[in-house]
Amino acid sequence: MPQQAIADVGLIGLAVMGENLALNIADHGYKVAVYNRTTEVMKKFIARENPPGGLVGCESLKEFVAAIKKPRKIIILVKAGAAVDAVVKQLIETGIDKDDIVVDCGNSLWTDTIRREKEYADKCRFFGSGVSGGELGARFGPSMMPGGHPDSWQHLKPIWEAVAAKVDAATGKPLEDYAPGKPVIGGVPCTAYIGPNGAGHYVKMVHNGIEYIDMQLICEAYFLMSHLLRMPANEIGEVFTQWNTGELDSYLIQITADILKQPDPKHEGKFFVDYVLDTAGQKGTGKWTSTSALDLGIPANAIAEAVFARCLSALKEERVVASKQLKGPRVVAYRGKKDDLIAAIRDALYCSKICAYAQGFQLMREAQKEYNWKLHFAEIASIWRGGCIIRARFLQKITDAYTRNPDLVNLMLDPYFNEQIQQAQENWRKVVVVAAEKGAAAPAFMSALAYYDGYRSARLPANLLQAQRDYFGAHTYERTDAPRGKFFHLDWPEKNRPQIDIIPGSGGGH
Ligand code: 6PG
Repeated sequence: MPQQAIADVGLIGLAVMGENLALNIADHGYKVAVYNRTTEVMKKFIARENPPGGLVGCESLKEFVAAIKKPRKIIILVKAGAAVDAVVKQLIETGIDKDDIVVDCGNSLWTDTIRREKEYADKCRFFGSGVSGGELGARFGPSMMPGGHPDSWQHLKPIWEAVAAKVDAATGKPLEDYAPGKPVIGGVPCTAYIGPNGAGHYVKMVHNGIEYIDMQLICEAYFLMSHLLRMPANEIGEVFTQWNTGELDSYLIQITADILKQPDPKHEGKFFVDYVLDTAGQKGTGKWTSTSALDLGIPANAIAEAVFARCLSALKEERVVASKQLKGPRVVAYRGKKDDLIAAIRDALYCSKICAYAQGFQLMREAQKEYNWKLHFAEIASIWRGGCIIRARFLQKITDAYTRNPDLVNLMLDPYFNEQIQQAQENWRKVVVVAAEKGAAAPAFMSALAYYDGYRSARLPANLLQAQRDYFGAHTYERTDAPRGKFFHLDWPEKNRPQIDIIPGSGGGH
């Protein structure tokens, strides 16, 4: 039991992420006070993992608070939602100081973080930091997205920079040399101050929205190879291994290759993935990203499509019934050249991925206006190069794009990405056509293509839509032959007297 303040930092919540982050911090020479609501969990952790003495086990919050040097830095890693408030309130009751920094490292909703910073302002300095990378990331180097008061960040920065994943300064490649007690030395840390209040959690949320669509695109590529080409899982795994040597090189492609080659532990000669039930779960961050896109009016349709694809997958029983009643094309197998279709699927995945990231970054651009943040997009892309779930070679290219032009309106307009889509789009279209023809659901490939074609259309059918709105609701419209911002209303046929009324400065009717 610690008698005095000996710990550099405290951590509450010893589920696997909390345990691993505590060990990671200790590996970097910091003494970490740890506390868990169930004392037994803490005791087992200390007994199992504390040989070098970097951890200080605390049985009560009083002991925990007393064990940390002031101003205290306290990391909370508990389930997002009510548990975070409960822990902060307990800390306040226990007696933390106004200067102490309480950091929520869970997947919290950014508006909760904004609210908490205000609500607890006269009791402590509340701070929110996104942390990505799963268990292994937390243990050996996550990507960290800190948001809160800049003064608090100055206190946290040395720890965050020490424990975050590192990438090579020249190439942006992750330096992954995992070994307990032997942290990676050198490299650029995958963390940077994102902005005040909820900015860190917002950016982490968008990371997760992109994670959803990245995963869905990979799943569609797998589905098409399996469904149209009848390829067994391990053979598809080989394709992913090969893709992982090029532009698609990423953590998610790499683990997909591993998963597809994994034999099933119960069925000799069979593959694990074929025995996993096809219903996806979700904890909400993809939905939050999509909701935010709807609130801000940003067309992040591919990201939302990935969320809906999970929702559709969850309707397993309904789908089984419908599969016997709703008819599709009779012959589903592809009769063209297998290698050509595989190459086309790769291109469809790549182009769709560019669109998905374009949507995520476009969303962050809009959010910064709404919340008065000044987001640094090159830096955000750069801290996603290592540690996080979406880490990929591709993120170096995004870093380069926003370094070239920090005000880039849309990633697809960057010369590099523009050219990449030019080269691959024919194949992308081919895949969408084949999928539609053969009745194979590929919603994210299709949705991303609709985004691309919509975005590059100088004229969309919204002229008709506005006319419809004006017809039934006198919602007004703008004209192609009048300046923007001038609104008109047509006296519709029931009066049989077409006549244009100008509605000065109208924002669009009722
Ligand atoms: C990460 C992950 C992590 C978590 C997801 C899972 O960045 O490390 O995103 O935060 O695994 O939230 O989300 P779903 O359960 O919604 O798939």
